[in-house]
Amino acid sequence: MLNFELKNPTKILFGKGEIAKISKEVPQDAKVLMIYGGGSIKTNGVYHQVTDALKKHDVKEFGGVPANPEYEVLVNALQFIKDNNITYLLAVGGGSVIDGVKFLSAAANYDGEPWEILKRSVRTMEGEGMPFGTILTLPATGSEMNSGYVISRRKTKEKLSSGGPGLFPQFSVLDPEVIQSIPKKQIANGIADAYTHVLEQYMTTPSSADLQERIAESILISLQETAPKVMSENFDYNAAGNFMWCCTMALNGLIQKGVITDWAVHAMGHELTAYYGIDHARTLAVIAPSHYRYNFDTKKEKLAQYAERVWKITEGTLEEKAEAAIKKMEEFFQSLDIKTKLSEYTEDYQNTAERVEKAFTERNWLGLGEHKKLTPQDAYKIVEMSY
Ligand code: NZQ
Ligand code: ZN
Repeated sequence: MLNFELKNPTKILFGKGEIAKISKEVPQDAKVLMIYGGGSIKTNGVYHQVTDALKKHDVKEFGGVPANPEYEVLVNALQFIKDNNITYLLAVGGGSVIDGVKFLSAAANYDGEPWEILKRSVRTMEGEGMPFGTILTLPATGSEMNSGYVISRRKTKEKLSSGGPGLFPQFSVLDPEVIQSIPKKQIANGIADAYTHVLEQYMTTPSSADLQERIAESILISLQETAPKVMSENFDYNAAGNFMWCCTMALNGLIQKGVITDWAVHAMGHELTAYYGIDHARTLAVIAPSHYRYNFDTKKEKLAQYAERVWKITEGTLEEKAEAAIKKMEEFFQSLDIKTKLSEYTEDYQNTAERVEKAFTERNWLGLGEHKKLTPQDAYKIVEMSY
Protein backbone atom coordinates (compact mmCIF):
# COMPACT_ATOMS: atom_id res chain seq x y z
CA MET A 1 0.00 0.00 0.00
CA LEU A 2 1.31 3.45 -0.87
CA ASN A 3 1.86 6.08 1.82
CA PHE A 4 -1.04 8.47 2.30
CA GLU A 5 -2.46 11.34 4.30
CA LEU A 6 -6.18 11.54 4.97
CA LYS A 7 -8.09 14.49 6.37
CA ASN A 8 -11.72 15.02 5.51
CA PRO A 9 -13.23 17.75 7.68
CA THR A 10 -16.76 17.73 6.17
CA LYS A 11 -19.50 16.99 8.69
CA ILE A 12 -22.31 14.92 7.15
CA LEU A 13 -25.91 15.28 8.30
CA PHE A 14 -27.68 12.31 6.71
CA GLY A 15 -31.40 11.56 6.61
CA LYS A 16 -34.94 12.83 6.43
CA GLY A 17 -35.53 16.18 8.11
CA GLU A 18 -31.84 16.97 8.65
CA ILE A 19 -32.04 20.26 6.70
CA ALA A 20 -33.65 21.83 9.78
CA LYS A 21 -30.39 21.36 11.68
CA ILE A 22 -28.41 23.80 9.56
CA SER A 23 -29.53 26.61 11.85
CA LYS A 24 -26.92 25.25 14.26
CA GLU A 25 -24.22 24.70 11.65
CA VAL A 26 -24.23 28.15 10.07
CA PRO A 27 -22.69 30.74 12.46
CA GLN A 28 -25.36 33.01 13.97
CA ASP A 29 -23.52 36.21 13.08
CA ALA A 30 -22.76 35.20 9.48
CA LYS A 31 -23.89 37.22 6.48
CA VAL A 32 -25.05 34.26 4.43
CA LEU A 33 -25.40 33.95 0.66
CA MET A 34 -27.62 31.04 -0.36
CA ILE A 35 -26.73 29.95 -3.89
CA TYR A 36 -28.86 27.68 -6.07
CA GLY A 37 -29.49 26.60 -9.63
CA GLY A 38 -32.32 26.95 -12.11
CA GLY A 39 -35.14 26.71 -9.63
CA SER A 40 -35.86 23.03 -8.87
CA ILE A 41 -35.52 23.86 -5.16
CA LYS A 42 -38.44 26.27 -5.41
CA THR A 43 -40.87 23.54 -6.49
CA ASN A 44 -39.72 20.55 -4.44
CA GLY A 45 -39.89 22.06 -0.96
CA VAL A 46 -36.12 22.31 -0.36
CA TYR A 47 -36.07 26.11 -0.67
CA HIS A 48 -38.79 26.37 1.95
CA GLN A 49 -36.98 24.02 4.34
CA VAL A 50 -33.72 25.97 4.04
CA THR A 51 -35.24 29.43 4.47
CA ASP A 52 -37.31 28.15 7.38
CA ALA A 53 -34.21 26.72 9.10
CA LEU A 54 -32.33 30.01 8.61
CA LYS A 55 -35.17 32.40 9.45
CA LYS A 56 -33.13 33.92 12.29
CA HIS A 57 -30.03 34.36 10.11
CA ASP A 58 -29.12 37.21 7.79
CA VAL A 59 -29.57 35.45 4.41
CA LYS A 60 -29.37 36.77 0.86
CA GLU A 61 -29.94 34.72 -2.30
CA PHE A 62 -28.30 34.19 -5.66
CA GLY A 63 -30.10 31.81 -8.05
CA GLY A 64 -29.49 30.77 -11.64
CA VAL A 65 -26.24 28.80 -11.52
CA PRO A 66 -26.59 26.55 -14.59
CA ALA A 67 -25.56 22.90 -15.00
CA ASN A 68 -21.82 22.82 -15.76
CA PRO A 69 -21.44 26.00 -13.69
CA GLU A 70 -20.72 28.93 -15.93
CA TYR A 71 -17.90 31.31 -15.16
CA GLU A 72 -19.74 34.42 -16.41
CA VAL A 73 -22.66 33.72 -14.03
CA LEU A 74 -20.33 33.05 -11.11
CA VAL A 75 -18.50 36.31 -11.69
CA ASN A 76 -21.83 38.08 -11.08
CA ALA A 77 -22.25 36.12 -7.84
CA LEU A 78 -18.72 37.14 -6.86
CA GLN A 79 -19.60 40.79 -7.33
CA PHE A 80 -22.69 40.28 -5.19
CA ILE A 81 -20.57 38.73 -2.44
CA LYS A 82 -18.21 41.73 -2.45
CA ASP A 83 -20.98 44.33 -2.64
CA ASN A 84 -22.91 42.78 0.25
CA ASN A 85 -20.00 41.87 2.55
CA ILE A 86 -21.04 38.21 2.58
CA THR A 87 -19.11 36.03 5.06
CA TYR A 88 -20.63 32.56 4.56
CA LEU A 89 -21.77 30.63 1.47
CA LEU A 90 -24.52 28.01 1.35
CA ALA A 91 -24.84 25.84 -1.75
CA VAL A 92 -28.28 24.32 -2.29
CA GLY A 93 -28.17 22.05 -5.32
CA GLY A 94 -26.29 19.39 -7.23
CA GLY A 95 -22.64 19.21 -8.20
CA SER A 96 -22.86 22.29 -10.38
CA VAL A 97 -24.07 24.58 -7.61
CA ILE A 98 -21.66 23.09 -5.07
CA ASP A 99 -18.72 23.39 -7.49
CA GLY A 100 -19.73 26.98 -8.26
CA VAL A 101 -19.69 27.74 -4.55
CA LYS A 102 -16.23 26.22 -4.15
CA PHE A 103 -14.99 28.51 -6.88
CA LEU A 104 -16.64 31.49 -5.16
CA SER A 105 -15.10 30.45 -1.85
CA ALA A 106 -11.67 30.48 -3.47
CA ALA A 107 -12.30 33.72 -5.37
CA ALA A 108 -14.04 35.70 -2.61
CA ASN A 109 -10.90 37.31 -1.23
CA TYR A 110 -8.77 37.16 -4.36
CA ASP A 111 -7.85 40.40 -6.04
CA GLY A 112 -6.69 39.18 -9.45
CA GLU A 113 -8.62 38.00 -12.51
CA PRO A 114 -10.78 35.12 -11.14
CA TRP A 115 -10.21 32.81 -14.15
CA GLU A 116 -6.53 32.73 -13.12
CA ILE A 117 -7.62 30.67 -10.13
CA LEU A 118 -8.65 27.88 -12.50
CA LYS A 119 -5.74 28.30 -14.91
CA ARG A 120 -3.10 28.11 -12.21
CA SER A 121 -5.10 26.08 -9.66
CA VAL A 122 -4.42 28.52 -6.81
CA ARG A 123 -6.40 29.53 -3.68
CA THR A 124 -6.83 25.95 -2.58
CA MET A 125 -5.14 25.89 0.83
CA GLU A 126 -6.83 25.84 4.23
CA GLY A 127 -7.75 29.29 5.48
CA GLU A 128 -7.74 30.90 2.03
CA GLY A 129 -11.38 30.42 1.09
CA MET A 130 -14.66 31.71 2.46
CA PRO A 131 -16.36 29.05 4.66
CA PHE A 132 -19.34 27.25 3.13
CA GLY A 133 -21.83 24.45 3.68
CA THR A 134 -24.00 22.48 1.26
CA ILE A 135 -27.49 21.01 0.97
CA LEU A 136 -27.19 18.27 -1.65
CA THR A 137 -30.18 17.87 -3.97
CA LEU A 138 -28.69 15.53 -6.58
CA PRO A 139 -26.46 12.56 -5.68
CA ALA A 140 -23.74 12.15 -8.29
CA THR A 141 -20.47 14.01 -8.04
CA GLY A 142 -19.39 13.57 -4.41
CA SER A 143 -18.66 17.31 -4.39
CA GLU A 144 -20.53 17.52 -1.09
CA MET A 145 -17.69 15.70 0.69
CA ASN A 146 -14.63 16.47 -1.39
CA SER A 147 -12.55 19.52 -2.16
CA GLY A 148 -12.51 19.48 -5.96
CA TYR A 149 -14.54 21.55 -8.40
CA VAL A 150 -15.02 22.01 -12.13
CA ILE A 151 -16.02 25.27 -13.87
CA SER A 152 -17.01 25.85 -17.50
CA ARG A 153 -16.46 28.87 -19.67
CA ARG A 154 -18.74 28.72 -22.72
CA LYS A 155 -17.02 31.63 -24.47
CA THR A 156 -13.69 29.83 -24.72
CA LYS A 157 -15.16 26.30 -24.69
CA GLU A 158 -13.06 25.40 -21.65
CA LYS A 159 -13.95 23.23 -18.68
CA LEU A 160 -11.26 23.30 -16.00
CA SER A 161 -10.94 21.76 -12.56
CA SER A 162 -9.15 22.77 -9.40
CA GLY A 163 -9.34 22.08 -5.68
CA GLY A 164 -7.37 21.39 -2.56
CA PRO A 165 -7.50 21.00 1.21
CA GLY A 166 -9.07 24.42 1.80
CA LEU A 167 -12.16 23.68 -0.27
CA PHE A 168 -14.04 21.04 1.69
CA PRO A 169 -17.57 22.03 2.74
CA GLN A 170 -17.85 22.60 6.51
CA PHE A 171 -21.02 20.51 6.49
CA SER A 172 -23.27 18.80 3.95
CA VAL A 173 -26.87 17.71 4.39
CA LEU A 174 -27.80 14.46 2.60
CA ASP A 175 -31.56 13.99 2.79
CA PRO A 176 -32.63 11.10 0.50
CA GLU A 177 -36.13 12.60 0.24
CA VAL A 178 -34.81 15.16 -2.27
CA ILE A 179 -34.48 12.39 -4.85
CA GLN A 180 -38.24 12.27 -5.42
CA SER A 181 -38.24 15.32 -7.67
CA ILE A 182 -35.16 14.44 -9.75
CA PRO A 183 -35.92 13.58 -13.39
CA LYS A 184 -34.91 9.97 -14.22
CA LYS A 185 -32.37 11.26 -16.72
CA GLN A 186 -30.50 13.01 -13.90
CA ILE A 187 -30.76 9.96 -11.62
CA ALA A 188 -29.17 7.91 -14.41
CA ASN A 189 -26.45 10.54 -14.71
CA GLY A 190 -25.79 10.34 -10.98
CA ILE A 191 -25.44 6.56 -11.05
CA ALA A 192 -23.11 6.63 -14.07
CA ASP A 193 -20.98 9.45 -12.67
CA ALA A 194 -20.50 7.81 -9.27
CA TYR A 195 -19.84 4.43 -10.94
CA THR A 196 -17.13 5.97 -13.11
CA HIS A 197 -15.60 7.77 -10.12
CA VAL A 198 -15.01 4.37 -8.57
CA LEU A 199 -13.63 2.99 -11.83
CA GLU A 200 -11.16 5.88 -12.17
CA GLN A 201 -9.71 5.03 -8.76
CA TYR A 202 -9.90 1.26 -9.18
CA MET A 203 -9.34 0.23 -12.81
CA THR A 204 -5.55 0.44 -12.80
CA THR A 205 -3.48 -2.54 -11.67
CA PRO A 206 -4.19 -4.93 -8.77
CA SER A 207 -2.92 -3.34 -5.56
CA SER A 208 -2.04 -4.51 -2.06
CA ALA A 209 -4.61 -2.10 -0.57
CA ASP A 210 -7.14 -4.87 0.08
CA LEU A 211 -9.67 -2.76 1.96
CA GLN A 212 -9.75 0.04 -0.64
CA GLU A 213 -10.23 -2.57 -3.38
CA ARG A 214 -13.09 -4.22 -1.52
CA ILE A 215 -14.77 -0.92 -0.67
CA ALA A 216 -14.53 0.14 -4.31
CA GLU A 217 -16.07 -3.16 -5.45
CA SER A 218 -18.82 -2.85 -2.83
CA ILE A 219 -19.75 0.61 -4.09
CA LEU A 220 -19.92 -0.72 -7.67
CA ILE A 221 -22.11 -3.67 -6.63
CA SER A 222 -24.33 -1.44 -4.48
CA LEU A 223 -24.83 1.01 -7.35
CA GLN A 224 -25.71 -1.86 -9.71
CA GLU A 225 -28.23 -3.25 -7.22
CA THR A 226 -29.71 0.13 -6.32
CA ALA A 227 -29.99 1.40 -9.91
CA PRO A 228 -33.29 -0.29 -10.88
CA LYS A 229 -34.86 0.72 -7.56
CA VAL A 230 -34.03 4.41 -7.89
CA MET A 231 -34.91 4.40 -11.60
CA SER A 232 -38.36 2.95 -10.83
CA GLU A 233 -41.36 5.28 -10.52
CA ASN A 234 -42.03 4.20 -6.92
CA PHE A 235 -40.02 6.14 -4.37
CA ASP A 236 -38.07 3.86 -2.03
CA TYR A 237 -36.46 5.82 0.80
CA ASN A 238 -33.87 3.18 1.62
CA ALA A 239 -32.84 2.76 -2.01
CA ALA A 240 -32.56 6.55 -2.30
CA GLY A 241 -30.41 6.62 0.83
CA ASN A 242 -28.13 3.87 -0.44
CA PHE A 243 -27.77 5.60 -3.80
CA MET A 244 -26.96 8.91 -2.13
CA TRP A 245 -24.35 7.47 0.22
CA CYS A 246 -22.74 5.43 -2.59
CA CYS A 247 -22.27 8.64 -4.61
CA THR A 248 -20.69 10.42 -1.67
CA MET A 249 -18.43 7.49 -0.78
CA ALA A 250 -17.36 7.11 -4.41
CA LEU A 251 -15.50 10.41 -4.34
CA ASN A 252 -14.84 11.55 -0.79
CA GLY A 253 -11.19 10.56 -0.94
CA LEU A 254 -11.37 7.25 0.90
CA ILE A 255 -10.94 4.71 -1.89
CA GLN A 256 -8.12 6.61 -3.58
CA LYS A 257 -5.84 6.40 -0.55
CA GLY A 258 -2.85 4.08 -0.84
CA VAL A 259 -3.51 3.24 -4.51
CA ILE A 260 -2.69 4.74 -7.92
CA THR A 261 -5.54 6.47 -9.78
CA ASP A 262 -6.30 7.14 -13.41
CA TRP A 263 -8.77 10.05 -14.10
CA ALA A 264 -8.09 10.11 -17.87
CA VAL A 265 -11.75 9.26 -18.62
CA HIS A 266 -12.79 12.46 -16.84
CA ALA A 267 -10.12 14.53 -18.59
CA MET A 268 -11.39 13.42 -22.01
CA GLY A 269 -15.05 13.56 -20.95
CA HIS A 270 -14.77 17.17 -19.80
CA GLU A 271 -13.71 18.11 -23.34
CA LEU A 272 -16.88 16.58 -24.78
CA THR A 273 -18.99 18.67 -22.40
CA ALA A 274 -16.99 21.78 -23.27
CA TYR A 275 -17.43 21.25 -27.04
CA TYR A 276 -20.98 19.87 -27.25
CA GLY A 277 -22.64 20.47 -23.85
CA ILE A 278 -23.19 16.73 -23.32
CA ASP A 279 -24.09 15.86 -19.69
CA HIS A 280 -20.96 15.08 -17.68
CA ALA A 281 -21.94 11.49 -16.81
CA ARG A 282 -22.83 10.67 -20.42
CA THR A 283 -19.40 11.76 -21.63
CA LEU A 284 -17.89 9.25 -19.22
CA ALA A 285 -20.07 6.43 -20.55
CA VAL A 286 -18.86 7.34 -24.05
CA ILE A 287 -15.15 7.38 -23.18
CA ALA A 288 -14.77 4.66 -20.52
CA PRO A 289 -15.29 1.52 -22.65
CA SER A 290 -12.84 2.75 -25.31
CA HIS A 291 -10.34 3.82 -22.66
CA TYR A 292 -10.35 0.36 -21.09
CA ARG A 293 -10.12 -1.37 -24.48
CA TYR A 294 -7.27 0.89 -25.64
CA ASN A 295 -5.34 0.32 -22.38
CA PHE A 296 -6.27 -3.35 -22.21
CA ASP A 297 -2.72 -4.65 -21.70
CA THR A 298 -1.95 -2.54 -18.66
CA LYS A 299 -5.42 -2.90 -17.13
CA LYS A 300 -6.42 -6.47 -17.96
CA GLU A 301 -5.55 -7.97 -14.55
CA LYS A 302 -7.73 -5.42 -12.81
CA LEU A 303 -10.47 -5.77 -15.41
CA ALA A 304 -10.50 -9.51 -14.75
CA GLN A 305 -10.67 -8.91 -10.98
CA TYR A 306 -13.63 -6.58 -11.60
CA ALA A 307 -15.22 -9.28 -13.78
CA GLU A 308 -14.87 -11.90 -11.06
CA ARG A 309 -15.70 -9.91 -7.96
CA VAL A 310 -18.27 -7.45 -9.27
CA TRP A 311 -19.94 -9.33 -12.13
CA LYS A 312 -19.27 -12.90 -10.88
CA ILE A 313 -17.75 -13.91 -14.23
CA THR A 314 -15.62 -16.95 -13.49
CA GLU A 315 -15.38 -18.71 -16.87
CA GLY A 316 -12.71 -18.09 -19.48
CA THR A 317 -9.13 -16.87 -19.69
CA LEU A 318 -7.99 -13.68 -17.99
CA GLU A 319 -8.35 -11.81 -21.29
CA GLU A 320 -11.83 -13.20 -21.93
CA LYS A 321 -12.99 -12.20 -18.45
CA ALA A 322 -11.50 -8.73 -18.86
CA GLU A 323 -13.26 -8.18 -22.20
CA ALA A 324 -16.54 -9.58 -20.81
CA ALA A 325 -16.28 -7.07 -17.96
CA ILE A 326 -15.97 -4.11 -20.34
CA LYS A 327 -19.07 -5.38 -22.12
CA LYS A 328 -20.95 -5.65 -18.81
CA MET A 329 -19.93 -2.09 -17.92
CA GLU A 330 -21.21 -0.83 -21.28
CA GLU A 331 -24.49 -2.74 -20.84
CA PHE A 332 -24.88 -1.30 -17.36
CA PHE A 333 -24.68 2.24 -18.73
CA GLN A 334 -27.11 1.31 -21.51
CA SER A 335 -29.52 -0.19 -18.94
CA LEU A 336 -29.78 3.36 -17.56
CA ASP A 337 -30.78 4.55 -21.02
CA ILE A 338 -27.38 6.16 -21.49
CA LYS A 339 -25.89 6.00 -24.97
CA THR A 340 -22.25 4.97 -25.18
CA LYS A 341 -21.14 6.39 -28.55
CA LEU A 342 -20.34 10.03 -29.30
CA SER A 343 -22.15 9.93 -32.65
CA GLU A 344 -25.38 9.23 -30.73
CA TYR A 345 -25.11 12.68 -29.11
CA THR A 346 -23.88 14.91 -31.94
CA GLU A 347 -23.55 14.79 -35.72
CA ASP A 348 -20.57 17.07 -35.45
CA TYR A 349 -18.17 14.55 -33.96
CA GLN A 350 -15.68 14.01 -36.81
CA ASN A 351 -12.86 16.30 -35.65
CA THR A 352 -13.29 15.71 -31.89
CA ALA A 353 -10.21 13.50 -31.52
CA GLU A 354 -8.06 16.17 -33.16
CA ARG A 355 -9.47 18.88 -30.89
CA VAL A 356 -8.82 16.84 -27.76
CA GLU A 357 -5.25 16.06 -28.85
CA LYS A 358 -4.63 19.75 -29.54
CA ALA A 359 -6.19 20.94 -26.25
CA PHE A 360 -4.18 18.47 -24.16
CA THR A 361 -0.95 19.38 -25.98
CA GLU A 362 -1.54 23.10 -25.48
CA ARG A 363 -2.21 22.57 -21.76
CA ASN A 364 0.92 20.48 -21.51
CA TRP A 365 -1.11 17.43 -20.43
CA LEU A 366 1.45 15.14 -21.97
CA GLY A 367 1.14 12.15 -19.65
CA LEU A 368 -2.27 11.24 -18.23
CA GLY A 369 -3.44 8.03 -16.56
CA GLU A 370 -2.14 6.05 -13.61
CA HIS A 371 1.32 5.69 -15.16
CA LYS A 372 1.42 9.26 -16.55
CA LYS A 373 2.10 7.73 -19.96
CA LEU A 374 -1.09 8.46 -21.86
CA THR A 375 -0.10 11.04 -24.47
CA PRO A 376 -2.35 13.46 -26.37
CA GLN A 377 -1.92 11.09 -29.35
CA ASP A 378 -3.28 8.23 -27.24
CA ALA A 379 -6.21 10.45 -26.24
CA TYR A 380 -6.80 11.02 -29.96
CA LYS A 381 -7.11 7.29 -30.55
CA ILE A 382 -9.36 6.69 -27.54
CA VAL A 383 -11.73 9.51 -28.50
CA GLU A 384 -11.77 8.24 -32.10
CA MET A 385 -12.68 4.75 -30.85
CA SER A 386 -15.63 6.34 -29.01
CA TYR A 387 -17.28 7.76 -32.16
O1 NZQ B 1 -30.64 23.91 -11.60
P1 NZQ B 1 -31.78 23.17 -11.02
O2 NZQ B 1 -33.09 23.78 -11.32
O3 NZQ B 1 -31.60 22.87 -9.56
O4 NZQ B 1 -31.85 21.75 -11.78
C1 NZQ B 1 -30.81 20.81 -11.70
C2 NZQ B 1 -30.03 20.70 -13.00
O5 NZQ B 1 -30.80 21.08 -14.10
C3 NZQ B 1 -31.42 19.43 -11.55
N1 NZQ B 1 -31.67 19.06 -10.15
C4 NZQ B 1 -30.78 19.00 -9.15
N2 NZQ B 1 -31.39 18.54 -8.03
C5 NZQ B 1 -32.68 18.34 -8.34
C6 NZQ B 1 -32.87 18.67 -9.69
N3 NZQ B 1 -34.07 18.58 -10.31
C7 NZQ B 1 -35.09 18.17 -9.56
N4 NZQ B 1 -34.99 17.80 -8.26
C8 NZQ B 1 -33.80 17.87 -7.62
N5 NZQ B 1 -33.71 17.48 -6.32
O6 NZQ B 1 -30.47 18.55 -12.12
C9 NZQ B 1 -29.78 19.22 -13.16
C10 NZQ B 1 -28.31 18.86 -13.12
O7 NZQ B 1 -27.70 19.34 -11.95
P2 NZQ B 1 -26.12 19.41 -11.81
O8 NZQ B 1 -25.80 19.99 -10.50
O9 NZQ B 1 -25.53 20.02 -13.02
O10 NZQ B 1 -25.72 17.86 -11.87
P3 NZQ B 1 -24.52 17.08 -11.22
O11 NZQ B 1 -24.70 16.93 -9.75
O12 NZQ B 1 -24.41 15.85 -12.03
O13 NZQ B 1 -23.23 18.01 -11.42
C11 NZQ B 1 -22.51 18.03 -12.62
C12 NZQ B 1 -21.31 18.95 -12.52
O14 NZQ B 1 -20.38 18.49 -11.52
C13 NZQ B 1 -19.07 18.34 -12.11
C14 NZQ B 1 -19.40 18.03 -13.54
O15 NZQ B 1 -18.30 18.22 -14.39
C15 NZQ B 1 -20.53 18.99 -13.83
O16 NZQ B 1 -20.04 20.28 -14.09
N6 NZQ B 1 -18.29 17.34 -11.36
C16 NZQ B 1 -17.83 17.68 -10.15
C17 NZQ B 1 -17.01 16.85 -9.41
C18 NZQ B 1 -16.52 17.21 -8.07
N7 NZQ B 1 -16.70 18.44 -7.63
O17 NZQ B 1 -15.92 16.40 -7.39
C19 NZQ B 1 -16.60 15.53 -9.92
C20 NZQ B 1 -17.38 15.09 -11.09
O18 NZQ B 1 -16.62 14.16 -11.79
C21 NZQ B 1 -17.83 16.14 -12.03
O19 NZQ B 1 -16.79 16.52 -12.93
ZN1 ZN C 1 -17.55 12.69 -12.63
